[in-house]
Amino acid sequence: MSELSAPPAPAIPPHVPAELVWNHGLRDFASRTDDPYRALSRELHSGPDIRWSPVMMNARPGWIVTRHALVEEIYKNTTDFSNSGASDLNELLAANWVMTPVELDPPLHKTYRTLLQPWFQPSAIARLEQRMREGARALIDQFADRGSCEFIGEFALQFPSQVFLNLMGMPLEMLDQFLEWEGLLMRGENNEVRMGALIAIVNYLEQAMREKRGKPAQDDLGSFIANCTVEGRPVTDDEVMGMAVLMYVGGLDTVASSMGWYFRHLAGEPALQQRLREDPACIPAAAEEFLRAYSPNTIMRTVARDIDFHGVPMRVGDFVGLAGWAAGRDDRVYADPHRIDFDRGQRHVTLGTGVHNCLGSHLARREIRILFEEWFSRIGTFRLAPGAESSFDPAAVWAVTSLPLVWDV
Ligand code: HEM
Repeated sequence: MSELSAPPAPAIPPHVPAELVWNHGLRDFASRTDDPYRALSRELHSGPDIRWSPVMMNARPGWIVTRHALVEEIYKNTTDFSNSGASDLNELLAANWVMTPVELDPPLHKTYRTLLQPWFQPSAIARLEQRMREGARALIDQFADRGSCEFIGEFALQFPSQVFLNLMGMPLEMLDQFLEWEGLLMRGENNEVRMGALIAIVNYLEQAMREKRGKPAQDDLGSFIANCTVEGRPVTDDEVMGMAVLMYVGGLDTVASSMGWYFRHLAGEPALQQRLREDPACIPAAAEEFLRAYSPNTIMRTVARDIDFHGVPMRVGDFVGLAGWAAGRDDRVYADPHRIDFDRGQRHVTLGTGVHNCLGSHLARREIRILFEEWFSRIGTFRLAPGAESSFDPAAVWAVTSLPLVWDV
């Protein structure tokens, strides 16, 4: 989700040791470089493992955790680190719902996670594969013979939007409207424009879910959410919205942004492209390696009680940002961390771990594999269009906002 407001930086709280203060905001620092992954992880890995930023993200002050081991430890510690208030979305929208299940702590979290789980297990995702593949092919068909495309607008935003509408049982005729909102949300010129797009999306989801309520059961996730039973009683309107909005937020920007970074990287490394083209069997490993190296997320936690965490005095209510983009580039875990090596075979925390690990992980992986399979069976060596620039916005989800590509036809 994009950063939507930027009040002035608050004072440093007294419990924060001066030597841990990093006087930058993540978005601000990352915007000033051409390679935010390399620049920001190098900067933060060169100092203390945990730093305090007065304007960490969305202008919120908080701790930034950049080492793989510490990120993993916090993911697994739901006693000291809470998911409550992890997003400021409902606050921004003055809504009563919370994103469900991601903003709920155990034991309540499990109730909703268990409810949604069957829709995301590998067999359920396999049932979506045919339509996903046809959708990806149709998009690539539109520009393959042209020898050029603007990858973000013509593929990366479109594909997960199609997948979302299919998964939720929402009409594909909404696609153009969705893309317009999604484009404004990710690339709108100011906060008002982005906020307007977000409100339009949430209003649409509200209306679509209301229409699904009470209708005969359909085989789609949207109908299921709208009509499910929670602990023996009918789901409430707020619960429906909490789940529907999370499906949108969880599965759209993350996938679109990830694909943008992967293709930005590939445009500069023809040898990797060649391997993907000539050896499709490497695609699952390639997907994992790109996931490792290009996490677009800073996942938020709130400190639930005063603790000393590896020597850092954290106080109840402090925000903590788990920097996936730095954990994936941790040189204590990954040799030569900025290099993409399909044979690395190491696990990563880009899709989280612990009870909140990404519910959509099988779907995300399937989308990435389908993209690689369909793209590399069709399109020759591509590069950044001469004289063109690729832009990006390292907001709450780090997004590539334009990527003009060309190839020979
Ligand atoms: C490359 C794409 C993706 C990335 C990098 C990603 C990353 C993550 C991460 C790091 C978490 C953990 C959040 C936390 O611990 O607070 C998470 C949770 C979640 N993701 Fe994904 N995700 C991706 C794609 C998807 C997709 C396609 C969906 C489908 C709707 C999805 C739905 C969810 C949901 C519902 C949760 C919350 C799970 C829970 O709280 O139990 N994600 N994701």
